[in-house]
Amino acid sequence: MKTIITASLSDELGAYLSATPFDRIFVLTDTNTREHCLPVLRNVPQIADARVICIAAGDLNKSLRQLSDVWTVLSNDRATRHSLLVNLGGGMASDLGGFAAATFKRGLRTLNIPTTLMAAVDAAVGGKTGINFNGLKNEVGAFHSPIAVFISSLFFRTLDRSNFLSGYAEMLKHALLEGDSTLADILSFDLDKDLQDYARLNRMLAESVSIKEKIVEADPLEKSARKALNLGHTVGHAIESMSFADGRPLLHGCAVALGLVCELYISFKNCGFPSSKLMDIAGFIKAHYPPYAIGCSRYGALYELMRHDKKNRGDAVSFALLAQVGQARVDESVAQALVEESLDFYHDFFGL
Ligand SMILES: NC(=O)c1ccc[n+]([C@@H]2O[C@H](COP(=O)([O-])OP(=O)(O)OC[C@H]3O[C@@H](n4cnc5c(N)ncnc54)[C@H](O)[C@@H]3O)[C@@H](O)[C@H]2O)c1
Ligand SMILES: [Zn+2]
Repeated sequence: MKTIITASLSDELGAYLSATPFDRIFVLTDTNTREHCLPVLRNVPQIADARVICIAAGDLNKSLRQLSDVWTVLSNDRATRHSLLVNLGGGMASDLGGFAAATFKRGLRTLNIPTTLMAAVDAAVGGKTGINFNGLKNEVGAFHSPIAVFISSLFFRTLDRSNFLSGYAEMLKHALLEGDSTLADILSFDLDKDLQDYARLNRMLAESVSIKEKIVEADPLEKSARKALNLGHTVGHAIESMSFADGRPLLHGCAVALGLVCELYISFKNCGFPSSKLMDIAGFIKAHYPPYAIGCSRYGALYELMRHDKKNRGDAVSFALLAQVGQARVDESVAQALVEESLDFYHDFFGL
């Protein structure tokens, strides 16, 4: 897989597509990326000539029904193993399009052009694809690496602040896995004033993507080291699922940010993660991310959601934790009482 972070997207994409012959090119967009992002590529002849498949936007639509709609177009318009599916959108498009491609004729090639920060630093890179099913996030899916990922911050100009914050939480997670200087860079970026500093953002983006790629390359099928990328996600996914069920859906990264507060607290208690770092990071998250109140009467339900996590073996809930910034511990089992204590910490810290 090739990842290209570029300031001249149309030229580089055009050159790449000319160099690789495909019999047909399909472009998957959602309703928003068709409006805001497809026009950015109007000067790429192969994209201008491609068959556009447009699906409804939003994670609730990362569904079997929309997957079936994509398969139907691919089938009716005679996609073959020599065709290409370009996923132009956020993580919803690359997850659903990637899974459609993984399964259609047992494997169609895909190319990802992430248009959200979340997709650029995380979802579009690394080959995990899937859909939500039976009320559970990413319940059905496959590993299917794109042949290339083209990343450009051009798209972020139309992205709203919440979606920017959502992606930024994954950058924070990558920095926590990498080391102190990367973390200092992430915490010092002023999310109110520096947002137009595209040069700095591009540099931070490139570093963040390379951290994820390094981890994925070492362990593509998530047997061990890749599990570190789940930091913040055991509690985060459960909060995300609960927020959907409550009808007050949180964006994935915003739920992960709250999950990070809890999991760094657990790291402090179980692995000696420094309390000063815990307070700095929790302070950053509190300052920027929307809170989500979870009364203690719902801790049991939240813990049940964690037990559904794909990372678990049997009934135990398994965590990725940190001993230090840059030192992950994977497959850590944590007692339910400590998970609940971490939720108390989050609640008190946020003043909920
Ligand atoms: N496969 C993985 O490794 C992985 C990793 C992280 C997240 N994910 C998945 O990714 C999804 C979340 O990704 P996301 O946050 O990108 O969500 P998303 O794709 O739903 O995009 C968020 C919203 O922004 C809109 N949008 C996209 N690009 C835009 C642009 N440039 N300008 C204006 N609006 C734009 C979309 O239409 C959507 O309404 C979840 O389904 C999550 O499970 C997967
Ligand atoms: Zn994530």
